[in-house]
Amino acid sequence: MFSPTGLSGPKPEQYGQLLAQARALVEDERDRVANAANLSALVYHALPQLNWVGFYFFDGTELVVGPFQGLPACVRIPLSRGVCGAAARTRTTQRVADVNAFAGHIACDSASRSELVVPLYDDDALIGVFDIDSPIPDRFDADDQAGLEAIAACFVDACTAATPA
Ligand code: SME
Repeated sequence: MFSPTGLSGPKPEQYGQLLAQARALVEDERDRVANAANLSALVYHALPQLNWVGFYFFDGTELVVGPFQGLPACVRIPLSRGVCGAAARTRTTQRVADVNAFAGHIACDSASRSELVVPLYDDDALIGVFDIDSPIPDRFDADDQAGLEAIAACFVDACTAATPA
């Protein structure tokens, strides 16, 4: 059984604690749906002021919604559209302080005001994106970005780990 432990201390330390919990959750598990589901739940319940946390997976053509916490979301996002498409296309984390000012933002939950999307790549192969939304404008700072990128890397590492001999 998973016992959530509260995060404490300065924000980078809190993200260190959250990363340790994330690593424990995905340890010895390569299934991407299982890992995405557990990491979405972990982050959604650990961090304040979020309304959507989840994954979109690349199906070879576009991004398709995967495991998440929050309201039902848009199912398919072309790489040419949205904050998610921009992250996947540019291979760069998109930290958007005001989603209404982002050209092409796709509003899945009208409550969302700011958003952070981390691209997920296995070397050159696009896996998908990790998307975190907040109802608070400018919710995410550089510490949040670094912390959530580390959790995204933990997901990629777990899902691409070599199978035991
Ligand atoms: N806002 C995203 C779409 C996904 S939802 O936020 C869950 C975008 O613009 O790509």
